[in-house]
Amino acid sequence: MTLVELIAKKRDGGCHSEAELSRIIEAFMANELADYQLAAWLMAVFFRGMTDDETVALTRAMLHSGDVLDLGSVPGVKVDKHSTGGVGDKVSICLAPLVAACGVPVPMVSGRGLGHTGGTLDKLEAIPGFSVNLDTLTFAKIVREVGTSMIGQTSRIAPADKRIYALRDVTATVESIPLIVASILSKKLAEGIDGLVLDVKVGRGAFMKTRADAERLASALVRVGTAAGKHVVALLTRMDDPLGLAIGNANETREAIEVLHGRGPADLVECTLALADEMLVVGRVAPDLAAARERSRAGIASGAARRVLERMIEAHGGDPRVVADPSRLALAPERVEITADRSGVVAGIDALALGLSGVAMGAGRTRADQAVDHGVGIDLCKKPADPVKAGEVLAVVHARRAGDVPSARIRGAFEIGDAPPITQPLVLGRIDASG
Ligand code: URA
Repeated sequence: MTLVELIAKKRDGGCHSEAELSRIIEAFMANELADYQLAAWLMAVFFRGMTDDETVALTRAMLHSGDVLDLGSVPGVKVDKHSTGGVGDKVSICLAPLVAACGVPVPMVSGRGLGHTGGTLDKLEAIPGFSVNLDTLTFAKIVREVGTSMIGQTSRIAPADKRIYALRDVTATVESIPLIVASILSKKLAEGIDGLVLDVKVGRGAFMKTRADAERLASALVRVGTAAGKHVVALLTRMDDPLGLAIGNANETREAIEVLHGRGPADLVECTLALADEMLVVGRVAPDLAAARERSRAGIASGAARRVLERMIEAHGGDPRVVADPSRLALAPERVEITADRSGVVAGIDALALGLSGVAMGAGRTRADQAVDHGVGIDLCKKPADPVKAGEVLAVVHARRAGDVPSARIRGAFEIGDAPPITQPLVLGRIDASG
């Protein structure tokens, strides 16, 4: 079949073989298939969908467009976590050292913030000297010696995904489950992992706004990841309100470090421990979730998780003193208090509005090549269900200039009602290979 016939096959609802999908990706990477042709094929996939077998084959083809890291020199079952992204989601920074301290190696290739959600790399770079641009040999060495390392996607990790994602972004084909699954899994499988725990966020601050959509994505990720030979589990977690109290970069890193000191907001601690439980079971150092919880609580209480974080920061060229003293992290010079204009109870906090407010002040980016201002951020003083009096401080904003602060938008993100909201658990569901 010619490449045009392959596009027509998907347009007409046909099912591609593994060889056909490899051919499409190889031809695209070799510039034999033009951007406009791949765009037409992506739109055909968007409307016609893909079977799980096709999605596995597409994932493999994208994975093999670059290098697959060889972590054979690292003993143990290697497990990573991937979050579909949310506001205030700094979990990776406390989770990876915690899980590593409990005996499971965590190789993590992370992303930058784009849109209203933050990225782990920007939060790590808030640590003075910390480099996320390490070569893969150094990455493997740090995972072996320290237990975890966190780097950015190199140009050799799933390069097809980078080019295809850029096309999807401008052709309205991002929201296709098989394309999302192949995009996420091709990058994660390139890390050389044995297992993967997914945090699929649901709600107004998340990529998936409804539980039904999040469940469809989570189960496709689990099915396809399992078919690719990995142990994959997904949690569905709530992302209507920001996670924790800090939204920004340095302030989020500070809050993640607090978790390893046995402090930190309850929802952030719960999210971290729920994911750690799954990773310790997948990593085969705990027989069940209850035993895993005991182990991770001990990892925090003994200081072992903090020590792993210090060693990881040092290995990446950063200043490990931020772990003992998180106040060393940057803080923008202007402090602006946002106060309540009425009394009542906090019914909800619009994560999307606060994420976008952070971006507008420089904590995030609207174009992939922009720099972020690590010291800028929003610290919440109230969470849902907290009572509030008119004039009380709802949030403290750290900004470069007071004039940068979108005060009305931040105040408007707090919904103040007369009755406490109905509380929902943070973890809404769990999906594993058994369905
Ligand atoms: N995240 C990814 O990495 N890829 C997608 O397609 C969507 C979210």
